[in-house]
Amino acid sequence: AFPSWHFHDFMFIFYIDAYTINCTGFDLYGVDPNAFQSVFDRKAFRPVINFRVPTLVNISFTLSAILDVDAQIQLMTSFLWVNMVWDNPFISWNPEECGGLTEISVAAKNLWLPDLFIIEFMDVDTTPTSLYAYVHSSGRINYDKPMKVTSICNLDIFYFPFDQQNCTLTFSSFLYTVDHLLLGMEKEVWEITDNSRDIIRTQGEWELLGINKATPKLIMGSSLYDQIMFHVTIRRRPRLYVINLLLPSGFLIAIDALSFFLPVESGNRAPFKMTLLLGYTVFLLMMNDLLPASGTPLISVYFALCLSLMVVSLLEAIFLTYLLNLVTTQPPPMPPWLHSLLLHYLRATDRCNKRSQKEPRGSGPNLIHLPGLMEPVVMATWVPGSSEAKLNGDPGSTRAPLEQEAQGRLTANMWGKFIVILDKLLFWLYLLFMVSSLTTVIILWNT
Ligand SMILES: *[C@@H]1O[C@H](CO)[C@@H](O)[C@H](O)[C@H]1NC(C)=O
Ligand SMILES: *[C@@H]1O[C@H](CO)[C@@H](O)[C@H](O)[C@H]1NC(C)=O
Ligand SMILES: *[C@@H]1O[C@H](CO)[C@@H](O)[C@H](O)[C@H]1NC(C)=O
Repeated sequence: AFPSWHFHDFMFIFYIDAYTINCTGFDLYGVDPNAFQSVFDRKAFRPVINFRVPTLVNISFTLSAILDVDAQIQLMTSFLWVNMVWDNPFISWNPEECGGLTEISVAAKNLWLPDLFIIEFMDVDTTPTSLYAYVHSSGRINYDKPMKVTSICNLDIFYFPFDQQNCTLTFSSFLYTVDHLLLGMEKEVWEITDNSRDIIRTQGEWELLGINKATPKLIMGSSLYDQIMFHVTIRRRPRLYVINLLLPSGFLIAIDALSFFLPVESGNRAPFKMTLLLGYTVFLLMMNDLLPASGTPLISVYFALCLSLMVVSLLEAIFLTYLLNLVTTQPPPMPPWLHSLLLHYLRATDRCNKRSQKEPRGSGPNLIHLPGLMEPVVMATWVPGSSEAKLNGDPGSTRAPLEQEAQGRLTANMWGKFIVILDKLLFWLYLLFMVSSLTTVIILWNT
């Protein structure tokens, strides 16, 4: 008998009446639990009048702390304040009837709560259970909960300690598909980022760079789930590591390079380098727990490089000491090609010296001190041509023993010069290798 629109109107009024909470006296006698009983009784069901209408839940969160980033088990532990807002059509009251009361807090266990979870979550949820939600007079429910989130995250520590990580937090419903629950944003993502950054700023090792949002739907079999992904980009504050790891190591390697200026013949160089190497090993042992426990970060390569540079320079010192010892005790005959090469080099440097400083330098360059020889030998004889003749020797000479002795000294001198030049050459090679490898590492760090 009723036209259909009449019927609908009637139903609408009926619902409004049925689900309007009679709040008379709330301002005088407090909230009457009976008034909310019908709402509480429905908490087992999703609060909609028509089940074809999905519930819209708006979410936001504040990242309040980054507690730990564990590269070994690839987990990031952070602390979130998650905020959810949704409408419950079974709650509404007229604030004017109850002294302007617009919202009251209700124990969350009495209400239907969206079953939102974070897909990357790898731990039991330790959220406290006795929480409250704000219920607005229009039926809007505002629910906040703190969450300690241990989420799986693909961590790359290659650039440690200058690394930047990108961890994802995906909010999704565990049960409800898109037909029943839709997710929205309660705050803009830049607002979330700014709030989080303000709170996190002064804390800990990690700095929040930014949060980005993506909203791909999740397909599981034939059902479609709504989800919101937040990409949280964080960067490590490297100061601690620069001060404790990179600087000391850099100093040690600088001292190692400088120790090339200790003369080989003093015999101090090898023990000095040995001590440095020992010091560096102890340093590495002590600083080992600062390094990430898994993977091969670039910093390990850097340490290995420093260590190998030290070992190589120690080997060089040992080799030169051995050569020097050999030369001073029983100088082996110098191969002719080496001899002529040396002469060429000496002549060239001599010419250079003469050109650069016009005045004669006295007997300086012609003197060489070798620990084995008592007195400095005046190198008056290595004028090209004459030395060649002397080296080859005159078979018919009658002053053979004298000549032999002079020749021996000459060879020792040449060897001495050779060692000095070799040392210089190796030093330059060492520097070249050190600079190139360290620049490579630094360039890699900067990319
Ligand atoms: C609300 O409840 C009070 C008593 O608690 C009653 O007097 C009043 O008529 C009720 N109002 C409505 C609209 O039902
Ligand atoms: C959620 O957000 C949308 C758009 O921002 C807004 O239209 C809607 O009313 C919000 N819903 C709730 C329950 O806050
Ligand atoms: C973080 O990683 C996701 C993919 O896992 C990518 O889509 C996003 O652009 C990355 N964000 C940044 C800032 O690199």
